[in-house]
Amino acid sequence: MNFASDNIVGASNAVMQALVRANAGAMPAYGQDALTAAVKRRFAEIFEHDVAVFLVATGTAANALALASAVPPWGLCLCHEEAHVIDDECGAPEFFMHGAKLKGLPGAGGKLTAESVSACLDSLPSAVKQMPPKALSISQVTECGMIYTPAEIGALGKLCHDRSLFLHMDGARFANALVSLGCTPAEMTWKQGVDILSFGATKNGCLMAEAVVVFNPLLAEALDYRTKRAGQVISKGRLIAAQLEGYFAEDHWLANAAHANRMARLLADGLVAVPGTRLAWPTEANEVFPIVPKAVHRALQAAGAHYHSWTQVSLPAGQNVGPDEELIRLVVSFATAEDEIQNLLSVARAAQARLAAE
Ligand SMILES: Cc1ncc(COP(=O)(O)O)c(C=O)c1O
Repeated sequence: MNFASDNIVGASNAVMQALVRANAGAMPAYGQDALTAAVKRRFAEIFEHDVAVFLVATGTAANALALASAVPPWGLCLCHEEAHVIDDECGAPEFFMHGAKLKGLPGAGGKLTAESVSACLDSLPSAVKQMPPKALSISQVTECGMIYTPAEIGALGKLCHDRSLFLHMDGARFANALVSLGCTPAEMTWKQGVDILSFGATKNGCLMAEAVVVFNPLLAEALDYRTKRAGQVISKGRLIAAQLEGYFAEDHWLANAAHANRMARLLADGLVAVPGTRLAWPTEANEVFPIVPKAVHRALQAAGAHYHSWTQVSLPAGQNVGPDEELIRLVVSFATAEDEIQNLLSVARAAQARLAAE
């Protein structure tokens, strides 16, 4: 029962087969091969837009490079206070932005609104001693498992463009958000004003393949040099491209994400049926955040379930975790089997039944 994250499993079969196919023979190195070119064209088709695409090996690299191209060294980039870019990347975005800073804003469910961002922008002094805001970064899916609707992204996009800020989307779980919304990649990104996207694929079936996808040509100018300086121009680049070829073929990526989201729904529905358990945030993609009695938490751990306890920072107003409760995060993936979920649910139900009988 491992629900620690969606990167605890290996790659999906379709991705591995594509890797094996691309492994044979010789091809130009450093992304100059035909497979990389084909995958870049595929991104343009999928997004229905001319895009500059830079394939990298980690989400941290994608975020750091995307933000470095959007924010000058004296600039400020706004994000949610719990965003991966500010909290979980060891300062990589600020390192690659060469002095620029991230400023975290609060928001229930890990989400920012046009109103909260606008209020923050209004509060910043415009004197030369203040770093000027240059970009906003949002996570789709958020760190609390919630999803921005296209309308919400559009409102942030309009605000950014009215205020001369670039809009970055950290799409580590892009496919999970997309299938949950049932919209097109275009409707979730550039049509709403997203300038640059960190497109995640590792968590949803790749071995290690992510991409910086640039919709605004202004931001693509030096990204090839930045990518090389970050050590992310992979010498056997065709093997990154091959993963994405397998990922996109026959809508494999969408099927993987739909499976993960379905498993999350099953898990969430099963958990809320256990008396004493409720959800901190709605389950909108592949992450479930239940607040469980501590006795249930202890029983799950004793049964060998892996998951993380979670922070309460972004709980909605009025929602509290009691002293006998624990807020936990359970993540499912393209590879999660229904059995694993049923096992966890039976442990939770049994623990709750013992608690009720005490
Ligand atoms: C929201 C978010 N962004 C980015 C990443 C990518 O990070 P990594 O550098 O581990 O690939 C993650 C992974 O946990 C994430 O959850």
